[in-house]
Amino acid sequence: MYPFSSGILIILFSVFMSSSISLSTSNSTSEKFLSCVSTQDTSNAISQVLYSPTNSSFSPILQSTIQNLRFLSSKTPNLLFIITPTNESHIQAAVICSRQNGLQIKVRSGGHDYEGLSYRSDVPFIIIDLQNLRSINVDIEERTAWVQAGSTVGEVYYHIANKSNTLGFPAGTCSTIGVGGHFSGGGIGALMRKYGLSADNIIDANIVDVNGRILNRKSMGEDLFWAIRGGGGVSFGIILSWKIKLVPVPPTVTVFTVRRTLQQGATKIVSRWQQSAYMFSEDLFIRAIATVATGATKGESTILVSFQSLFLGSVKELLPLMNNSFPELGLEAKDCTEMSWIKSTQYFAGFTNGESIDVLLNRTLQSKIFYKAKSDFLQVPISETGLEEIWNELLQGNISPVVIIEPLGGRMSEISDTETPFPHRAGSLYNIQYYMYWNEDGEMSNTTEEHLERMRKIYEFMTPYVSKSPRATYLNYRDLDLGGNDGRNTSYTKAWVWGNKYFKNNFKRLASVKSKVDSTNFFWNEQSIPPLNFQTGEN
Ligand code: FDA
Repeated sequence: MYPFSSGILIILFSVFMSSSISLSTSNSTSEKFLSCVSTQDTSNAISQVLYSPTNSSFSPILQSTIQNLRFLSSKTPNLLFIITPTNESHIQAAVICSRQNGLQIKVRSGGHDYEGLSYRSDVPFIIIDLQNLRSINVDIEERTAWVQAGSTVGEVYYHIANKSNTLGFPAGTCSTIGVGGHFSGGGIGALMRKYGLSADNIIDANIVDVNGRILNRKSMGEDLFWAIRGGGGVSFGIILSWKIKLVPVPPTVTVFTVRRTLQQGATKIVSRWQQSAYMFSEDLFIRAIATVATGATKGESTILVSFQSLFLGSVKELLPLMNNSFPELGLEAKDCTEMSWIKSTQYFAGFTNGESIDVLLNRTLQSKIFYKAKSDFLQVPISETGLEEIWNELLQGNISPVVIIEPLGGRMSEISDTETPFPHRAGSLYNIQYYMYWNEDGEMSNTTEEHLERMRKIYEFMTPYVSKSPRATYLNYRDLDLGGNDGRNTSYTKAWVWGNKYFKNNFKRLASVKSKVDSTNFFWNEQSIPPLNFQTGEN
């Protein structure tokens, strides 16, 4: 059954008109919004994809792609409607009517935002959830694809592989990430040393702007096209689709995960890896994932470092390269597995039990948990003594984050800092992600607070080892601890505190683009780009 028939939309509107005095402001806004969308959407099909809190599908849809259990709440007092558009015109109508009625819009593609910004707010808002807009058209001749914004990276990988085993796309390792948020925030993954970020491989896009118009690269202009490839699309409009450039991959790639504990010399190996992994052949991506693990003797803890790799070639080609570049790991043929590139995306997503590639079409995470992440960039390798100090800190107490260190270099360092809003290029050698996850024990539990506190302590502890002035961080690993907008009227100067960390000198250009395309800051959220010269007073 549809959430609202078009007739009901009109009846609701009439009821509102005849009893407006007794209705609350928020009801009044809801009714005005409904009336507006029924007028804007002449086909009335929007009524079939518009859900109010009283609809039985409202909560299941809201919860469907909430990936972080920290933000799963049965109370959503400010959320007036969820729209799951099946047509781009629904989005146009929603933008026009939200603007007319002073409602905030939250846009959700895959729902992976670390701080849940795509589906929660402190002010009255609607969610545009793009889960129904996910067609993917791959053009093998042209080596391109048009991808609708509600698709996941797993779906993108799957559809490319369905047509070719020698083409791929550089994007994240988790298959359920949505391309709406992921591509517009950058997109780092195992192919980035060879081909750069997802955002570096976008050649066109369609976006709904603040006036409800659909613009493509030509009609939006190069400034806006620049901004949405790394600056976070939602500050500027709603991305409908991306045109991506596919990249060549060999029919056979090699993967491995080799683990070493402190007792097996992990510190020296990490130190050696860190001095050179950003300079390895562009075909070789090796990341290091450090976790606290149970030691060999009872009651003892250790640090376990997993070196996880994608090599664009065969084992026969990889082994001499490793002997030359990184002999300290002691890699052997038995540690390596040859496979197709598409299988390697499954491997990195954690599907290592021979699952069919159909698992890449699954839109929800294997298991949902509570989590918090933070990130850093390294501009100089950490010394061996520094690594020992960090391991010691991680080993303190009962809880610690997983620390994922990913090498940049290669293609990443050939692209200038200003080419896209993502400024962490030649001067940045590694990205570090601290990722803490846990389960809550019950309503009265303070597990979340304990974990957040510990995470902040580790971040503080890392200060001397990581980038400075600014202490740089990656937009897609969103972190509200860095600061945020305290409302729609936050000034550029105030937002610079966190904006400089994500975008460095590109922040000013982003704010300048924002001034041109959304001067009244309609598309705002807790960490959106404010207009450079802010004007208030208009919708
Ligand atoms: P979500 O739907 O929550 O959107 C994120 C942000 O983008 C929100 O502000 C939202 O409003 C906005 N947005 C979404 N769709 C939009 C649209 N169509 N138009 C305009 N704005 C839109 N990153 C990475 O680079 N490499 C990786 O390997 C990983 N791995 C990873 C694993 C897991 C488990 C998680 C939870 C996250 C990652 N990430 C990552 C981070 C990921 O790139 C980041 O969270 C993205 O913003 C997720 O995009 P979604 O569309 O899924 O999120």
